[in-house]
Amino acid sequence: MKERVRIGYVGLGRRGKGIVRHFAKMSEVEIVYLCDKSEERLKNGQNTVIEHGGYAPRLTTDYSDIINDPTIDAVVIMIGWSGRPQMAMQAMRAGKYAAVEVGCADTLEECWDLIRTYEETGMPLMMLENCCYDHREMTLLNMVKKGIFGEVVHCTGGYHHNLNEIELFKDLDKEEIPHYRLKQYREKNRENYPTHELGPISKILSVNRGNRMVKLTSVASKAAGLKAYAAEHLGEDSPYATDTYKQGDIVDTIITCANGATIHLTLDTTLPRAYYSRNISVRGTKAMSSEERRVIFTEGMAEPVENNEAEMFEKYEHPLYEEYKHCRVKDAHGGMDWLVCRAFIDAVRREVNTPIDAYDTVTWMAIGPLSAQSIRTGASVDFPDFTNGKWENREAPTEGKYCLDKVCIDHETPIV
Ligand SMILES: NC(=O)c1ccc[n+]([C@@H]2O[C@H](COP(=O)([O-])OP(=O)(O)OC[C@H]3O[C@@H](n4cnc5c(N)ncnc54)[C@H](O)[C@@H]3O)[C@@H](O)[C@H]2O)c1
Repeated sequence: MKERVRIGYVGLGRRGKGIVRHFAKMSEVEIVYLCDKSEERLKNGQNTVIEHGGYAPRLTTDYSDIINDPTIDAVVIMIGWSGRPQMAMQAMRAGKYAAVEVGCADTLEECWDLIRTYEETGMPLMMLENCCYDHREMTLLNMVKKGIFGEVVHCTGGYHHNLNEIELFKDLDKEEIPHYRLKQYREKNRENYPTHELGPISKILSVNRGNRMVKLTSVASKAAGLKAYAAEHLGEDSPYATDTYKQGDIVDTIITCANGATIHLTLDTTLPRAYYSRNISVRGTKAMSSEERRVIFTEGMAEPVENNEAEMFEKYEHPLYEEYKHCRVKDAHGGMDWLVCRAFIDAVRREVNTPIDAYDTVTWMAIGPLSAQSIRTGASVDFPDFTNGKWENREAPTEGKYCLDKVCIDHETPIV
């Protein structure tokens, strides 16, 4: 077990500047480098690290400074969606663990390159999919593993979050480095943000461990929301209102798994809506759950069953949350951001594979290019088997507090 983990941290934008404080608070972690293209963000990031108990990190605009430092154990990559696979591969080739934020790959080749690099180097790659560690998702995982749902047949999930004001058109003229996301909406039409729901669903359906995704079909609506928003809020003559956006407002994706279960994903980010939802639902032969109705129903319950989630969370609490409830870590996302960062660091310290591994990471990243192809051609596409047959008989998962492939009870590993 490593006493200390030395990390290089890349990307101090909207997401990265907040998450860095979690790593700064961890007594076993030393943030040795901060890297960004912006000197101002670097300086602010350094202040954040110091404020939260870390030593002053070295600041660099050149990622290769981290790669070329043999004392660095792990790299945390928090830049926008493009360019991350290349950074992760450089890190793995230099013998470092790599963590990447959520989001899709641009191409399938990038996914295969990541897998080849992982298999050649043996260095773990983890997508920091925080929603795998959210309370609802962990409770559902626990219930599925206990058999409460019987056989799981169908899961839904979505990213239902109107991003127009809060993300896509936010601070357009203020940010010194343009945010990457609007460009993606201009240039691509695809399921671009599936992993918040697909990550937990994949673990529920044992994808890459006894099951795998075999086929995918995506359908996109027309793209009207961004232009309408820009015309209304930025003026009809604004370049954002006269621009063309390829990204359909609503994208539905159906994935079929080898065991016959299906997954329905929805991307819904550019039309007005009243509330944020990931709308996760699990349908099994013995139970159903619905995030939108806040209901978990098991066969035999007296109906009507309404709003009983809190009660069911209590009854089927995952051991990690049982313990986390008593911790005093403050996290804007209810715990999941802290837990996913902790899960990564725990694997680096123990020098074991990460609970979201390279196969999970690329499977989720591949939804971007696969959905783009399906929308473009109007046909289903075969899902590549990144495990090359290993999914049928994988090595046992690494057990531990943060394991997502089985439910482990581990009172030894500290959460804080
Ligand atoms: N898990 C979550 O809940 C969650 C929430 C929001 C965003 N995200 C993810 O976080 C990631 C970052 O999003 P964001 O909104 O912070 O983006 P952003 O554009 O605000 O920040 C990206 C930062 O990376 C820096 N950068 C880009 N390329 C670089 C390079 N080659 N070298 C050094 N620095 C570089 C930029 O200068 C910028 O500061 C995305 O993958 C996004 O999907 C996750």
